[in-house]
Formats: sequence, structure tokens, C-alpha cells
Amino acid sequence: MYTEQVMDHFANPRNVGEIENADGIGEVGNAVCGDIMKMYIKVEDNVITDVKFKTYGCGSAIATSSIATEMIMGKTIEEALSLSNKAVVEALGGLPAHKIHCSVLAEQSIKAAIADYYTRQGIDPAPIVGVIPECEGGHCH
Ligand code: FES
Repeated sequence: MYTEQVMDHFANPRNVGEIENADGIGEVGNAVCGDIMKMYIKVEDNVITDVKFKTYGCGSAIATSSIATEMIMGKTIEEALSLSNKAVVEALGGLPAHKIHCSVLAEQSIKAAIADYYTRQGIDPAPIVGVIPECEGGHCH
């Protein structure tokens, strides 16, 4: 049911934890399953130099946030903003259909962390980050 990559990132999640003095923190939750994901980013010269996450959630949520942190590490903010939950799922070799919504939390938490980064800079994040869509579970991909 789960690919090797999913099992690997679930069993050995990368970049778990918090960043002290983070430049942006994004916290998102799924209203249906109650899972919560918190993403911390460090930004230097428009580049994400460090990223860590904490997830209170299912195995797929942990695996998707783990691989998502690897996918945005060292990338520009624009590149991180363009990371879709679909790309995260593809990088994991796929997820069961009823677990796709878990990957949306990874995309949303990165966008929320970047929005927080802009807010802290005194910049309105809405025109840059856009509206972070609400996920009601299963209908958001
Ligand atoms: Fe809620 Fe996976 S079941 S994020």
C-alpha cells in the first residue's frame, strides 16, 4: 500500500524539530482528521537556508513533510512557493488516494511559513503567496 520512499521518510523523517529564531513559522491543520503540521524556515538572501518541521499526524503527513523539507532546502522562496502537493506525492512514488490530502498539509505549511516570513518583513504576503486553500480532507487535490 505504501511505497519504499514513504516508509523510509516515515521511519526516518528528515529535518524534524524546531528552529530557534526562525524567520518564518507556518502552522496548518486539517479540520477533518485533526492533524497539525508546523514548518520553520530560515531565510538568507531570498534562499531557504534551513527548514524543520513538527507534525502531529499520520504516517503520510510525516513522510510528506519530511520529503518536502528536503525539496525546499537551499531553494529560493519562489521555488519553494511553487512546490505543489502533487510534486511531493510524486517524489514519494505515490500515495493511496485517501492519503493525498495529507500531502496538502506539507504544501500549505510551507506557504504559511513563507507568508509569516513576509509578514515579519512588513510585506503583505497575500499578493505573493496567494490564498492558502482550506483542506477539508480528500477534496483538495
Ligand atoms: Fe490527516 Fe493524514 S490523515 S494528515
